[in-house]
Amino acid sequence: MAENKAKMIIDKEFRISEVDERIYGSFIEHLGRAVYGGVFEPDHPDADENGFRKDVIKLVQELQVPIIRYPGGNMVSAYDWEDGVGPRDKRPKRLELAWRTVETNQMGTNEFVDWSKQVNADVMMAVNLGTRGIDDARNYLEYCNHSGGTYYSDLRKKHGYENPHNIKTWCLGNEMDGPWQVGHKTADEYGRLALETGKAMKLVDPSIELVSCGSSHTKMPTFPEWEATTLDHTYEVADYVSLHQYYGNPENDTANYLAKSMDMDHFIKTVISTCDYIKAKKRSKKTMNLSFDEWNVWYHSHQQDQEIDPWSVAPPQLEDVYNFEDALLVGSMLMSFLRHADRVKMACMAQLVNVIAPIMTENGGKAWKQTIFYPYMHVSVFGRGVSLQPVISSPKYDSKEFTDIPYIDSAVVYNEEKEELNVFLVNRHLTDNIDLSIDVRSFVEYQIVEHIVLEHDDMKATNTVVEEKVKPHTKGSSILKDGMLEGRLSKASWNVIRLKKY
Ligand code: AHR
Repeated sequence: MAENKAKMIIDKEFRISEVDERIYGSFIEHLGRAVYGGVFEPDHPDADENGFRKDVIKLVQELQVPIIRYPGGNMVSAYDWEDGVGPRDKRPKRLELAWRTVETNQMGTNEFVDWSKQVNADVMMAVNLGTRGIDDARNYLEYCNHSGGTYYSDLRKKHGYENPHNIKTWCLGNEMDGPWQVGHKTADEYGRLALETGKAMKLVDPSIELVSCGSSHTKMPTFPEWEATTLDHTYEVADYVSLHQYYGNPENDTANYLAKSMDMDHFIKTVISTCDYIKAKKRSKKTMNLSFDEWNVWYHSHQQDQEIDPWSVAPPQLEDVYNFEDALLVGSMLMSFLRHADRVKMACMAQLVNVIAPIMTENGGKAWKQTIFYPYMHVSVFGRGVSLQPVISSPKYDSKEFTDIPYIDSAVVYNEEKEELNVFLVNRHLTDNIDLSIDVRSFVEYQIVEHIVLEHDDMKATNTVVEEKVKPHTKGSSILKDGMLEGRLSKASWNVIRLKKY
């Protein structure tokens, strides 16, 4: 295959699965300025009567985020949820051990549920299986989901919330495989505790779904044995197993960096195999699905975070400023979920505001969009429907860690109801445009709506509060004739080619 030509076939019948929209979820942790200064800033000129920043709400709505994980993250492993409910003036200030800050608890469960409603998102709640366990989890669930007439449900009512929150999705702890976690456990210790906690929680509310903790990343020494051992305990009580993964480019090897989504593909496939091994071992009829509930690029802020003094309130932690190449990798990570839409049913970009986030704010000032905002928004908005398996012939390259990396990375979503076909593509070639021919003959009477492109000559270009250097345009060149789509994908670019039946 010529270096700068690629071919693809897209057919209506090559169905992977219906896309679960929850793969476009996100995450808000009580960490840095995510909550205080991001979501909640009562003194901000654009705050509403609840103290929520309206400018942030607007940007979150643009992303169409369907579900948001809360309240952590590492923070949840030493969190007492009772601190964050009831009259604000009675809420204690606590040492927050995961990030070594002071937590004021001025925002908690009820306020977060209120905020989520404003951004049209469901809540994915996590319980503390680090310092606490069964009792705390069942009480928390009773507080949130029980209709009334019991101690905790009546306490919620007393706090001004007559109706239950009906939170459906609950994480059984966070990254319990990680030695950094407060209350870190071995796989057997965690598996037993998660099983018994899950059992009690499903007795309180059988309608909930539970996520069992998987590995914190692919390089964990316990991966994938952690999944095999923990799922041996939790397989029947849990509905999902979690995956977490962050990438970075500290060595400044962009060709290798852009291929890191192949590691993600491999991660997903290995976890699926491990789940299916446990299914076979248990002779179970149930198929375990995946919740990729933390993913993103995270490395730019590592150094500056070392310099933050402990025990301050909402310091600027994990404030990665993303560049253009990060946006390309984020696009590829999102496409990996689409290609595994049959098993990845939830995913959360970590995180949403200020902390390794697509949305940034100034305290008291403006909110702005990072480079990664755009691929996330495009896939969330245009990636609803059925994920189709594209058949791709692309030239390939090798990098330090990967071999046979296709220059063209792709995923395709067909929305039958709207009669729309959306093709997502990254050209990983750093110096050459690639001409792509796509056979779309099964989409009779379809026409191109637009070809969106995110490109920049400088791979390290960033956005700031004053200037948005990296933003998409719709001047991509594609034409469609007799069922063949001919497009040119600029070197190092993110593309969305949108087709519709007219
Ligand atoms: O998202 C930041 C942190 O990354 C989370 O608190 C933790 O779960 C993960 O290690």
